[in-house]
Amino acid sequence: MKKLILSLTFLFVVRLAAFAVEGMWIPLLLGLLNETEMKSMGMKMSAEDIYSVNKGSLKDAIVHFGGGCTGEIISPKGLLLTNHHCGYGQIQSHSSMQSNYLEEGFWAKTMSAELPNPGLTVTLISRIEDVTATVLQGVTEGMDKRARQSVVDKNLDEIKKSWKRETWEDIMVRPFYHGNQYYLFVTVTYRDVRLVGAPPSSIGKFGADTDNWVWPRHTGDFALFRIYADKNNLPADYSPDNVPFQPKHFLPISLDGVREGDFTLVFGFPGRTNQYLPSYAVEQIVDVLDPAKIAVRDKTLAIWDAAMRADAQVKIQYASKQAGLANAWKKWQGEVLGLTRADAVGKKRAEEAEFKKAVSGKAAFGKYAGLVDEFKVLYDGIRPYAEAKDYYDEITQRNVELLRVASQVNRLVKAYENEGQPGFDNFKKRLLPFLEGFYKNYSPAIDRDVFAALMDMMAKKVDKGYLPDYFTQKTAQYGNFAAMADDLYAKSWLTDPKKAMAALAGTPNDVMTAILNDPACQLASAFEQAYNEKVVGKYNEYDERIDALQQTYMKALMEVFPDKKFYPDANGTLRCSYGRVQGYKPRDAVSYANMTFLDGVMEKYVPGDYEFDVPEKLRELYKNKDYGEYGIANKMPVCFIGSNHTTGGNSGSPAIDAWGNLVGLNFDRVWEGTMSDYHYDLSICRNIMVDIRYVLFIIDKFAGATNLIEEMKLVRPKQAAKFKTPDNEIKPRTRLESIRPEALEKQ
Ligand code: ARG
Ligand code: GLU
Repeated sequence: MKKLILSLTFLFVVRLAAFAVEGMWIPLLLGLLNETEMKSMGMKMSAEDIYSVNKGSLKDAIVHFGGGCTGEIISPKGLLLTNHHCGYGQIQSHSSMQSNYLEEGFWAKTMSAELPNPGLTVTLISRIEDVTATVLQGVTEGMDKRARQSVVDKNLDEIKKSWKRETWEDIMVRPFYHGNQYYLFVTVTYRDVRLVGAPPSSIGKFGADTDNWVWPRHTGDFALFRIYADKNNLPADYSPDNVPFQPKHFLPISLDGVREGDFTLVFGFPGRTNQYLPSYAVEQIVDVLDPAKIAVRDKTLAIWDAAMRADAQVKIQYASKQAGLANAWKKWQGEVLGLTRADAVGKKRAEEAEFKKAVSGKAAFGKYAGLVDEFKVLYDGIRPYAEAKDYYDEITQRNVELLRVASQVNRLVKAYENEGQPGFDNFKKRLLPFLEGFYKNYSPAIDRDVFAALMDMMAKKVDKGYLPDYFTQKTAQYGNFAAMADDLYAKSWLTDPKKAMAALAGTPNDVMTAILNDPACQLASAFEQAYNEKVVGKYNEYDERIDALQQTYMKALMEVFPDKKFYPDANGTLRCSYGRVQGYKPRDAVSYANMTFLDGVMEKYVPGDYEFDVPEKLRELYKNKDYGEYGIANKMPVCFIGSNHTTGGNSGSPAIDAWGNLVGLNFDRVWEGTMSDYHYDLSICRNIMVDIRYVLFIIDKFAGATNLIEEMKLVRPKQAAKFKTPDNEIKPRTRLESIRPEALEKQ
């Protein structure tokens, strides 16, 4: 702590002003930066209860799930809660037409029935350290970017080599504030994580794409896993001999629910935000980049969706990749809308004007005088390359699956050319399982239609100067893209798994010949070459300069506005977002309440519908108002919203109450607020959480998985507070310990 107080970080932060709500804060710094404000908002815990290295704290119950989501431990036996959409790939991988867990749900009645998931990991954070001074040692002002980076890299190497850790721990250092600060994370990664339970998609994905990113919401977006460890409670590869992991802390679950204004803490791993971009960057996102990506996915999704609705087998096969594609596609639309409505560009321009004014005439800030204008020049410069890059990335690396796979196969040629037989063998060893996974969920007939539509778009939207001549010639040769698609998909051996495996089974020379003669591989290779030669080189040149300038801008903002509170952009590390349960007014005369109920599920119910069907059992529970101890006044809460600042990666994050109990499960943001990755506006930005009582109700009443409920600690903190303390002050004992309702009754 002493070292910390002396560090630069402290100088940055002590003068910061009060009240935030906006922001994703570093757990290590909560005591310094946020605790006072959090308490003023009603928090009854201390910063130490949230993050501590000396005792079990909330952070010991939070995991990075599969690298892209968050999960939390809710029992002493390593039971893990996350979103249905986070476990979707795993649920899909165990599904078939015979046992379709996506459709019907899955519940392991005993531990031996829990399903292993090769490749799935969860990571816990042991501790966080500020290593800014060490990483930036030897860096001087005005050093050029490359020289700076090489000093930083050397220091990072040194840290990784010498940092004290246990053999089962890993070290990760990440830049914060655009490389102005560095934090080190000591982590432990568990590799045996099994599927325990998932509701049917008609609950876990209720409302699907229509309701995605939208409030009011009625989705029970949760799934349960379990972490397994070896006999010493340490990480191990999957083995039937592994035992349930015993966490240092797990979250008690509150049955009291939430009300308007209640404090909430969302604790998890937000992926990426860009809060300090200049107006020119945001303008480009709104006018050029988001619309380009949306247009590409419009085409793909129309084709995929029709195919999925027509064929139950395809519906399973394409489920996971469709969800990923559709999710960002819809988000970008909300983002464009929100940024436009909120006039984010105008607001950023005003901030930039303020910045210019603040630095002008001040000798110490003279070096920042031209900074904003320099951004304009760079963003004007990068624009055409950024647009072409997005079309290329979307079309050739994601939406047209044949091209994506062909570019992987082409890498085998490179591996052979560069490293001979060993390189060939090595890469092939990775390529084959990749292809096997790919073909499991691939339909060339669907992909051919996507190809035809997107080649047309490539020709129309991407400047000819950025396209390969090979493509232009082929286009002319076929006359139309449907003909080109038919021919290519008929001739390429890559569209057929049997042919592909046969083609790859030969000697390296045979394999080279097969690849070099394949029309899909040829086209992919031509695209790649043009991309490298005409697009990405220039793009990177600008991007590097923008990056360096952004680093300076961040530093400048902190120096020039010392009273402002700055939080670091999300970078996939553990963060705290705090806020309140709160409705909002999206537009004139429209006002949203903060909570939805099962009644709303029934209002949306369309029998047999692809998105809005409701399982019979749930309808029956509704009819009988059979909510057990989870309902309130004959109603069953489903979802609620709050002002916690969240982003992708916060999916599955716990919403924690003032005392440290689990009250909800974060899974989305509201339509008007998806712009919060660039611009957070307290009046309309809300995160969406499943009410934990709905989760319990589904596990208990719907699925009958009472074995799981037994493992958990259910508490009623508000009652407990009343019982325990005559002065009505809530004592910490209701917080990290559990109080079962029956224990309370006896008091
Ligand atoms: N929008 C949420 C998130 O960004 C939920 C996505 C899952 N739901 C879906 N319909 N694809 O991940
Ligand atoms: N659903 C998102 C995820 O998968 C979280 C919602 C958001 O982006 O705010 O992480």
